Parts: sequence; C-alpha cells; structure tokens
Amino acid sequence: DSPVRCDAVLSDTFSTKTSELADIDWDNLGFGFVPTDYMYMMKCTQGGNFSKGELQRFGNIELSPSAGVLNYGQGLFEGLKAYRTEDGKILLFRPEENAIRMRMGAERMCMPSPTVEQFVEAVKATVLANKRWVPPPGKGSLYLRPLLMGSGAVLGLAPAPEYTFLIYVSPVGNYFKEGVAPIHLVVEHELHRATPGGTGGVKTIGNYAAVLKAQSAAKAKGYSDVLYLDCVHKRYLEEVSSCNIFVVKDNVISTPSIKGTILPGITRKSIIDVARSQGFQVEERLVAVEELLDADEVFCTGTAVVVSPVGSITSMGKRVSYGEGGFGVVSEQLYSVLTRLQMGLIEDKMNWSIEL
Ligand code: COI
Repeated sequence: DSPVRCDAVLSDTFSTKTSELADIDWDNLGFGFVPTDYMYMMKCTQGGNFSKGELQRFGNIELSPSAGVLNYGQGLFEGLKAYRTEDGKILLFRPEENAIRMRMGAERMCMPSPTVEQFVEAVKATVLANKRWVPPPGKGSLYLRPLLMGSGAVLGLAPAPEYTFLIYVSPVGNYFKEGVAPIHLVVEHELHRATPGGTGGVKTIGNYAAVLKAQSAAKAKGYSDVLYLDCVHKRYLEEVSSCNIFVVKDNVISTPSIKGTILPGITRKSIIDVARSQGFQVEERLVAVEELLDADEVFCTGTAVVVSPVGSITSMGKRVSYGEGGFGVVSEQLYSVLTRLQMGLIEDKMNWSIEL
C-alpha cells in the first residue's frame, strides 16, 4: 500500500469509518501482538533532522542486512498507552515524557531523534488512525511502541548513515499471565542487567535481549520474572526485566534511585507523584536485598505492567511471601488512583493525559 498523508487519514471520513471497534475478543486481551491498521514512519540521515513523517498501512518493513540496528544494536524503543473513556474520548498518558526519554536515549546511542512535538504529533496521528483498536473502557488499552533505529547500512562499527522512527500499536490487556494477581520473582545473583557507565538507564533494545537468558531460566522454574541486583556490590535492588520495583515498610515507600543503571520509568515517576499526593513518604535510594525480608509489600511498575503486586521473592533459595494473594493495601491504593487517572475516571489535576 502507498503511504497515506496524516491529514488525509485524520479526515472526518476516516474517523467516521473507524469509529466502530475492531472485531476481536476484547474480553481476553493479554500482552500479545495484534496487527492493526496503520503504522507511522519517518526517516532522516545522520546529522540531519526528522521531517515528513507519514502513516502507512501496517506491514513488514524493508531493511538492509547491513542496517546498524541489526548488526550493532543501534536502536531504542518506547512504550505508552491510550485509553478509551466511557464518554467516548481517547486519552493518551504522558506522551511527552516518552518523547523526552527517547531523546535522552538517542543521545547516548548516537542517533538523531524526533523533537518532542514531532513525537507527540506522530503518536496522536497513529492512535487516531488505529482508533478502532483502542479497547472499550475497562477492557485494556492501546499500547504504542515507538521505535528509533539505525536503518542505514554500515559494516565497520560506526553510527548508521540513516535512521527510521516508527510507531506501531497493539491492543493489550494485562502484561503478566497472572493478570492482576501477584507475581513471583527470583533474585538473580550471577547475571546482571546493567553496569555503571553502560546503557541500563536508556531504553535501548539490547538491554532487553540481555535479560532473556535469566528470565527464561526463571520462568522454567515457575517464577514470573527476575529481580536484578547492582553489579558492583551485588546487594542493591535494580529492577525487574520489564519494570521498576518498590518496597513498602511501615507506610514508607522506597524504590531504587535512578543512577544510570535503572530505567527511568514513566509509571515509576507517576507512582512516586501519586504516592506523595496521597500522603505517603517516598524515598528514592539504595534499597538493599535484605530489606525484602521484612517488607510489608513489594510491587512493580511499568507502562506494560502498570502496577503489579509481588506475592513472593526468592533469593539464594530462600522465599519470602507478601500479602494474601492480591494487592497490598498501599499498592492497591496507588494502582486504583493511577488507573482511574489514566482512564479519565477521576480529575486529572496533574494534567498528565492528552485528549485526542
Ligand atoms: C513497557 O512497559 O512499556 C516496556 O517497555 C517493557 C517491555 C518489556 C514490555
């Protein structure tokens, strides 16, 4: 299919046509890929600026086997969500935060990046073009996956000569197969996710390939995911493969501070603000693995994960359990406020959501 200009796609005719919902089983969405109608593409050369993005029919893309992203991992991704409200609006949660994070990551990975305005406009256009894939209220969300990659051909190790910014979308439900039931983590003592001075603090694709081995081993033993420790002291909590971690003790909520090896999650940041607005004390600091032993609650946060209660953590063969099979009191309160904000069910005093 030939590219479609954004303004054409966003015309009234298109919006009317896509006001119906796609014909899928909305009651059983997991976090699996569902192909949708359109994707957004924008290209630029090294040293140049992105311009002239366009929506295209969703489909495979063509890359040189010598593309920088395929050979040297020069790539970043983002994740954000759009929600359909009861009164038919579509809300996007904090897209400018993803734009800023992509720009920071691009700087680290020697890539040009779309401006915040270009990113947000592209995201809005992509959601509108795929409106029929935004789940009905309460059934899930439309997950947006912006990618930035070195698409030009290289052979010697160097930044690629051309870059592609792409956004595709997929309707999603809960990330973990447990749904909103607690997940079970195992602390990894051998393999590490990130090193000081490395790329753990940016959303580069290689960070995610690097956790697959430990994650697969953990899953084979029945755990939901892996909790990483810092690689220097092998003692301080870092994050789970796909989300940040919080520990609650006596109504104080602690989470590892962002110091280059931990992904600065937008849900993490939002939960910290929500918790403070609810009167909780929140500490961003080094959190030692021993603190898990007498924590009242542990929970994870992430765009895909949202807020997920942790039911147990196993470290060096010793298992510590939390709660009684559901959310803890604190995580439930934070989950409820955050998701009601995202779904437009309570007043958005922080002005976090953008209405399409
Ligand atoms: C997200 O939460 O959006 C992420 O990027 C994590 C990913 C592994 C699903």
